[in-house]
Amino acid sequence: MISKINCAILGCTGIVGQRFIKLLENHPNFKTTFIIASDSRVGKKYGETVHWLIGGNIPDDIRNLEINRYDLQNFIEKDIRIVFSAMPPDIAGSIEKELADNGISVFSNSRAHRYDEDVPILIPEVNPDHIKIVKEQLKRRKGFIITNANCSTTGFVMALKPLLKYDIKNIYVSTYQALSGAGYPGVSSVDILGNVIPYIPGEEEKIVKETNKILGFYQDKKIRNNNLDIFSSCARVPVRDGHLESVVIEFNKEFSIEEIKKCFNDFKSDSTLHTSPDNPIILCEDPYYPQPGLDVYSGKPERAKGMCVSIGRLKKQGKKLRFFLLVHNTIRGAAGNSILNAEYAIQQGYIKQNGGKKKI
Ligand SMILES: NC(=O)c1ccc[n+]([C@@H]2O[C@H](COP(=O)([O-])OP(=O)(O)OC[C@H]3O[C@@H](n4cnc5c(N)ncnc54)[C@H](OP(=O)(O)O)[C@@H]3O)[C@@H](O)[C@H]2O)c1
Repeated sequence: MISKINCAILGCTGIVGQRFIKLLENHPNFKTTFIIASDSRVGKKYGETVHWLIGGNIPDDIRNLEINRYDLQNFIEKDIRIVFSAMPPDIAGSIEKELADNGISVFSNSRAHRYDEDVPILIPEVNPDHIKIVKEQLKRRKGFIITNANCSTTGFVMALKPLLKYDIKNIYVSTYQALSGAGYPGVSSVDILGNVIPYIPGEEEKIVKETNKILGFYQDKKIRNNNLDIFSSCARVPVRDGHLESVVIEFNKEFSIEEIKKCFNDFKSDSTLHTSPDNPIILCEDPYYPQPGLDVYSGKPERAKGMCVSIGRLKKQGKKLRFFLLVHNTIRGAAGNSILNAEYAIQQGYIKQNGGKKKI
């Protein structure tokens, strides 16, 4: 019989932490048994202290779970083998390192380790072979860290991946990013109500850097970054969930819209995982779509809702292609992608479902 792996969530009360709690409910591989938040909540029951923001009910087994302070010894005593991290990067960095050094598999949303040479920024549909770099981590520590991209980058690279076979000259991306991307309470209502803020510190640089790492090549036990010429502009808009992005790609050669649509429609994952959507990209033919308010939970089956990238408004002008994409920033752009990464790590033998030593 397969027993579920005990998991902990770091930052369980935040926007991403809440998504983890909900997406892990009834998961076939993982069971949330340990939860961490800031000192002010330590000792309180989850259901009594959390400001639940994501709709639906708090899972029954989590409602009465006590919130803890981070302490490595507790993780070891409670046989926590997987940690899902949703903490601010300044705190996450040293904690994630300590956990990985001590044999725990860490799936992180923070940027703290994204640029470490032997840490992948993994999206199973996009760069599955980058998981092999984990073997280099396992030479220096007992566990490992696998990170997610920043939320706007995830949607962007999922759309770029099927188009890489064309000769790309340069790419322009402009984002319209939801409030939940800034965490809770995030941006003040006075600042954002009826407004758009045309600056998100660090975001434009992250899109360029992370995209070139994710779309880089795994060679000679290293990830060699790509060198795509990307110009990004990021804005915060008064939308609750879902980052909309306008993408313009200039190619060196001619193409047709029909070919591009076929690339998007044919894009499939090499591996089917519990949280995988049937189709990672959904094309919208109606020019009024995709809309954050209407399409952000797209994806089939039910358990993969919010895991798809919706794409619409394809337009060609000379060798330039324009489209809009929509990604759920806290599901595909955060917790959902981390869970997919953990499922992929099990499938690839980096984590043993029933415990015991990893053989890779
Ligand atoms: N939001 C997104 O769309 C998104 C997407 C991708 C990646 N990320 C990344 O994911 C991480 C979490 O983001 P978020 O949006 O969920 O942020 P958030 O809503 O601000 O939540 C932060 C969480 O970390 C906890 N925390 C803060 N300080 C702590 C401490 N000293 N010790 C233990 N726990 C502490 C908070 O606990 P309290 O509630 O007790 O303060 C809360 O549970 C960040 O690194 C962010 O950059 C976010």
